[in-house]
Amino acid sequence: MGGEDSTPRKQAFPQSQMKYKFKILLLIVLTNLLTFYIFTGNNSYSNFQNPISRISGGGACDSAAAALILKLNATIDELAASRSEISQLRKQLKSSHSQTEELINELSQLNAAVERAAAASDRPTTAATKSTFDNLLADVSDEAKFAVGPHKLPLGYNPRMGSDEIYFSVGGGCLNHKEDLEKYMSYQVGGECPVDDSLSQTLMLMGCEPLPRRRCHPKSPANYVEPNPLPKSLWATPPDTSIIWDPYTCKNYTCLTNRRKTPGIYDCKDCFELDGREKTRWLYDNGGLDYGIDQVLEMKPRGTIRIGLDIGGGSGSFAARMRERNVTIVTTSMNFDGPFNSFISSRGLISMHVSVSQRFPFFENTLDIVHSMHVLSNWIPDTMLEFTLYDIYRVLRPGGLFWLDRFFCFGSQLNSTYVPMFDRVGFRKLRWNTGMKVDRGLDKNEWYFSALLEKPMT
Ligand SMILES: *[C@@H]1O[C@H](CO)[C@@H](O)[C@H](O)[C@H]1NC(C)=O
Ligand SMILES: *[C@@H]1O[C@H](CO)[C@@H](O)[C@H](O)[C@H]1NC(C)=O
Ligand SMILES: *[C@@H]1O[C@H](CO)[C@@H](O)[C@H](O)[C@H]1NC(C)=O
Ligand SMILES: *[C@@H]1O[C@H](CO)[C@@H](O)[C@H](O)[C@H]1NC(C)=O
Repeated sequence: MGGEDSTPRKQAFPQSQMKYKFKILLLIVLTNLLTFYIFTGNNSYSNFQNPISRISGGGACDSAAAALILKLNATIDELAASRSEISQLRKQLKSSHSQTEELINELSQLNAAVERAAAASDRPTTAATKSTFDNLLADVSDEAKFAVGPHKLPLGYNPRMGSDEIYFSVGGGCLNHKEDLEKYMSYQVGGECPVDDSLSQTLMLMGCEPLPRRRCHPKSPANYVEPNPLPKSLWATPPDTSIIWDPYTCKNYTCLTNRRKTPGIYDCKDCFELDGREKTRWLYDNGGLDYGIDQVLEMKPRGTIRIGLDIGGGSGSFAARMRERNVTIVTTSMNFDGPFNSFISSRGLISMHVSVSQRFPFFENTLDIVHSMHVLSNWIPDTMLEFTLYDIYRVLRPGGLFWLDRFFCFGSQLNSTYVPMFDRVGFRKLRWNTGMKVDRGLDKNEWYFSALLEKPMT
């Protein structure tokens, strides 16, 4: 229907009307072009002001049409120019977009790196810790490395350990003294260990406690004989052939027994003289600094003090006296120029070669009694002492006794430092005695205090 209508209408238009129509059409096209041009943001916008005014002003139709065509031609040119400009702009935008994307990418990578660094400084990852440990071990001998670890578990990952590796327990101080550690670990595997007790004990005191294990045999005493039987062994001096004397100034027990009478400062100078002062220690209660074992045991129902610990127990006489009362005491001791551990064991008592720095190897709430004489005193840094007292509290059972025997300090420290510290830890005072140490003069203001403390029942 539409097709049939359009042909007669075209023919119906006279010539002059066609011209007019053409002008209108041009005008429309030009206006649209103008609009398009303006909205594409061409910067030569101002050049279009004149043609617009001319068109709107009217005038001679033919010349106007020619001018318009020219302008149209020019417009087309400009349009083409602006198109190319647009496409260039698009290209630039595209490239800047990709640059922005690249920047964002880099920024997020940087961000992740910063986060990783922060996390690493907050809590080191297992890998970081391990590499630090490996670094510390980097320049020690293979035997030292073996003695410290790690070792791969032959059965693989162990959920109880949370690892597929196992380390020997050694003191953190070992790696602070690598030269001494190196010396200590220098021996022939399977052969005889060097007699280096003083080196190993020094390492222990420097925080290399426990010491690493070694793959060598300690020197064996020549002509070793069976020990004395109990109960005779408790108060018998062992045969000289029972130990290696190399590390000590004395080369026999006669020398050690007589040490009290010889000049010089030795640790526990009279401890090896079992017929001397050692024989009567803790047998009598003087109502002051010196308590009697029987008086202390009487504070508790008979037979309920059964097991305990003597910290720094010298030659083991406290344990011997307790043994006679059916109480089993573990005695810790160092070997300061004397075979203290060997001597305690020869008496048939349990000795442990550990310093006062180490956490007690007992479970909490297990021991009936802890005793300590002379060892705990003001030479120990306050904070360290407080940790030690808490550890004593830990291993004692409720109602267990802490017998602090002759703690040495200055008068100025007694009430200001130690009384508050013992109160803080939470012991109950059953007995508390102070006494001035006068042998070096009153002006030294040196004091002892002894205490019988109880871990509360609840
Ligand atoms: C329009 O411009 C083209 C070249 O861009 C030219 O060849 C043509 O002759 C011009 N037409 C008029 C009417 O000026
Ligand atoms: C014990 O050793 C000392 C040197 O330390 C020596 O003078 C003495 O003769 C020795 N005594 C015995 C009985 O071996
Ligand atoms: C120690 O135990 C033994 C045997 O059980 C007993 O005969 C002895 O009387 C006990 N000694 C003390 C002091 O309780
Ligand atoms: C510590 O305090 C007690 C009582 O508070 C006092 O009797 C004693 O003299 C003081 N001791 C020292 C050494 O200052």
